[in-house]
Amino acid sequence: MTVITVALGDRSYPIVIEAGVLDRAADHLAPLARGRTLAIVTDENVRGHAERLQAVLAAADVRSETIVLPPGEQTKSWTQLAALCDRLLDLGIERGDHVIALGGGVIGDLVGFACAILKRGCRFVQIPTSLLAQVDSSVGGKTAINTRAGKNLIGAFHQPSLVLIDPALLDTLPAREVRAGYAEVVKYGLIDDPAFFDWCEAHGAALIAGDPAARDQAIAHAVAAKARIVAADEHETNGTRALLNLGHTFGHALEAEAGFSQALLHGEAVAAGCALAFAFSAEQGIAPAADAARVAAHLRAIGLPDGLAAAGIGASGATLVDHMRHDKKMAAGTLPFLLARGIGRTYLDRTVDLDTVAAFLDRQAR
Ligand code: GLY
Repeated sequence: MTVITVALGDRSYPIVIEAGVLDRAADHLAPLARGRTLAIVTDENVRGHAERLQAVLAAADVRSETIVLPPGEQTKSWTQLAALCDRLLDLGIERGDHVIALGGGVIGDLVGFACAILKRGCRFVQIPTSLLAQVDSSVGGKTAINTRAGKNLIGAFHQPSLVLIDPALLDTLPAREVRAGYAEVVKYGLIDDPAFFDWCEAHGAALIAGDPAARDQAIAHAVAAKARIVAADEHETNGTRALLNLGHTFGHALEAEAGFSQALLHGEAVAAGCALAFAFSAEQGIAPAADAARVAAHLRAIGLPDGLAAAGIGASGATLVDHMRHDKKMAAGTLPFLLARGIGRTYLDRTVDLDTVAAFLDRQAR
């Protein structure tokens, strides 16, 4: 078992990483339940895990109720948020109660936001079931829903009380979802940890194939990095947490062009976005071309898109940059970009000219 703390003063919380921890969840959750009923919120795709959790809790005399929502990004909506808040109020949830978010990023983001606003804030626990949620979205307290104006535009920072990560849950995750989540793993090496990128090159394929040792090591390493970054910049104000957005500005434009559909998963867009951020940095003479080539080669080897064509995007640079102009990070007409001086040397650049980006993307498409 690995326990990592997100150090945020009196809002600090532990992240417990242990294969099989779902079956021992009562040890962690009974003290938080304090004799009251725990609400478990999950989705149709992983309701089997919720049934297992309910059985484990019942065996420890902890009462629970499960709320099952439809799977998919469209569940992060005003409609589902309102319905979930009403259900939780019907269950009599109080401020001191803990709601369990058992699912991928969609469930974590929606439940976290509901708990941020329910009775002006109640507690919640994240039990992430996808690799992407285990290494990124379940840690750090970003919660949100989508609106017709864009993704994650309505939300709050609201930290969980506990994160329970069971890497064994990934055994039943579709391979495509595992690969997509891996993009958020390799990102930590690209940001500031070249030795971890070396590790990814050596062990990434084994991780994708389900090797438990590689998987556990990568999750623990990624979560430790995320916890350190969140503790340094909880509300993304001093430039540290923004580094986690590597690949996301390019990636967001690709996702928007693909209509935020199953045609391009978020992690796949992030992978292509990381390759594009390195290719752009190399073209601008900021990063060695060899580093950009190494990043693209690793993503290709894993089966992730390494650029526009592999992501199935044929749009012009102008069209893609237009998507970027709607990014919520736009400030005073400029968009901060995460560029890199090399592998493990990512930095925030506020001087990038969007016309230059458009011309670069047109060259990439050829
Ligand atoms: N997923 C990026 C962050 O938590 O800041």
